[in-house]
Amino acid sequence: MKGANLFTLLTLYAGGNGGLAARTSKHGTHGADGDEPITRNGSSLFLAGKPWKAVGANIYWLGLDENVTPPAGEPYYAPLKASYPTKGRITEAMAVVRALGGTMIRAHTLGVSTGNPLSLMPAPGHVNEKAFETIDWAVWQARQAGLRLMVPLTDNFDYYHGGKYNFLRWAGFNLTQAKDASNPAVMQFYTNQTVIDSFKGYIRTLLTHKNPYTNLTYAEDPTIFAYETGNELCGPDWGDMNVPNAWIKEIGVLVKTLAPKKLLVDGTYGVNKTHLAVEEIDIFSNHYYPISVKKLQADLDLVAFVNKPYFAGEYGWTGTASSADADLASWFKVLEQSSSVIGDTFWSLFGHNVPDCSAFVEHSDGFTLQYGNPAQATQTKLIRRHFIQMSQGVSIGVNETLPKVSCPADLQLRI
Ligand SMILES: *[C@@H]1O[C@H](CO)[C@@H](O)[C@H](O)[C@H]1NC(C)=O
Ligand SMILES: *[C@@H]1O[C@H](CO)[C@@H](O)[C@H](O)[C@H]1NC(C)=O
Ligand SMILES: *[C@@H]1O[C@H](CO)[C@@H](O)[C@H](O)[C@H]1NC(C)=O
Ligand SMILES: *[C@@H]1O[C@H](CO)[C@@H](O)[C@H](O)[C@H]1NC(C)=O
Ligand SMILES: *[C@@H]1O[C@H](CO)[C@@H](O)[C@H](O)[C@H]1NC(C)=O
Ligand SMILES: *[C@@H]1O[C@H](CO)[C@@H](O)[C@H](O)[C@H]1NC(C)=O
Repeated sequence: MKGANLFTLLTLYAGGNGGLAARTSKHGTHGADGDEPITRNGSSLFLAGKPWKAVGANIYWLGLDENVTPPAGEPYYAPLKASYPTKGRITEAMAVVRALGGTMIRAHTLGVSTGNPLSLMPAPGHVNEKAFETIDWAVWQARQAGLRLMVPLTDNFDYYHGGKYNFLRWAGFNLTQAKDASNPAVMQFYTNQTVIDSFKGYIRTLLTHKNPYTNLTYAEDPTIFAYETGNELCGPDWGDMNVPNAWIKEIGVLVKTLAPKKLLVDGTYGVNKTHLAVEEIDIFSNHYYPISVKKLQADLDLVAFVNKPYFAGEYGWTGTASSADADLASWFKVLEQSSSVIGDTFWSLFGHNVPDCSAFVEHSDGFTLQYGNPAQATQTKLIRRHFIQMSQGVSIGVNETLPKVSCPADLQLRI
């Protein structure tokens, strides 16, 4: 088996070079403490007894992409431009997050994959094993790089990778984001037991899948340190934060029953004060487009009512000093100085079109960060400085040279 050969090769190689993956275990090579879960005590996270910060990138395309047309003959679903990313693209992304001083990645499509032929669940109850190959590789490469993963379980939108509308339509509710985003019937996703049970079945399929690179299920593998109830979840009104407590509790109980050591992130779009009472939630979070120091401060003030951590799950990294409230450097300072902030992930990282290392993959939302793109060097250095400050407590200069990441990347090299 291909995976087994790779496993042997990397284990031997890592043992000899004293590089990034300095330790081996029965589940493969990884950075220090890769077999230890991330734990929470009050508003802080810990790894093997030491404080741990969750800093890194959003890389939403690791399990299924929409930005590259693959060579003829490779799986491609043209209506949604869906394709599996190459293994080389995934490995490079891990190496880049390491070079940035990151400790983790927030990765939508390692959890959200429903409703199209390339998805993990194209139709209700139908599991597409092929889709697991890319997800397995990404989870394994994160482990090899000593990184952790935060994984949303569904999406608020009818995006290419699927989301809550799939579960609604599978239960017979004829709803789409385009025509029904404000239809009160979207609440059926959170309130109708048939829909809830279908979503829970999906979660069960995902968490009990065994990764052949490690022989661990996703539930068992501490590389995935947190599952998030969803991405930007709302009710019928944009920003209404209308996600019922009972639903969060039911999903949280399921995740923690299947995977007692995972942390649960409230995937509501915004910090909803009534959710502070939901025992199963470990981490609260919000997204910022553009960055807003004021909004962040308001969210931190809310979360301060309970002894739990706060995580800035998405923010546009392009903010500059031309707007004080949206200045990336000021934003980072607030995150670094707030004791309940356990980390943040900028939106969003892309790399080269590996095996073609001559071109970056482009994405159209205006927030595409490409490590090594000279036009983005100043902001990239700020991000790296922030990650190192958060994760190591070390202050580096604003102009410190960015470490080189080879393409194709080699996770075994010290970077
Ligand atoms: C959690 O933190 C509290 C307060 O700092 C401390 O007293 C307690 O021993 C910690 N619990 C664990 C399990 O480490
Ligand atoms: C829940 O959804 C099912 C399947 O569509 C439907 O038969 C049932 O009437 C719904 N229940 C409620 C309370 O709306
Ligand atoms: C769903 O609704 C649309 C209009 O909103 C309609 O054109 C379509 O036929 C409906 N589909 C089903 C299966 O009822
Ligand atoms: C996983 O288990 C199978 C069956 O016991 C074994 O052949 C394979 O080598 C194991 N793989 C890893 C990576 O441990
Ligand atoms: C917050 O959650 C509650 C309970 O689930 C819900 O009723 C409310 O609409 C949500 N939004 C706000 C702004 O409180
Ligand atoms: C960083 O580089 C810029 C542009 O070259 C320069 O203006 C600035 O003084 C440098 N800052 C520090 C702290 O070295």
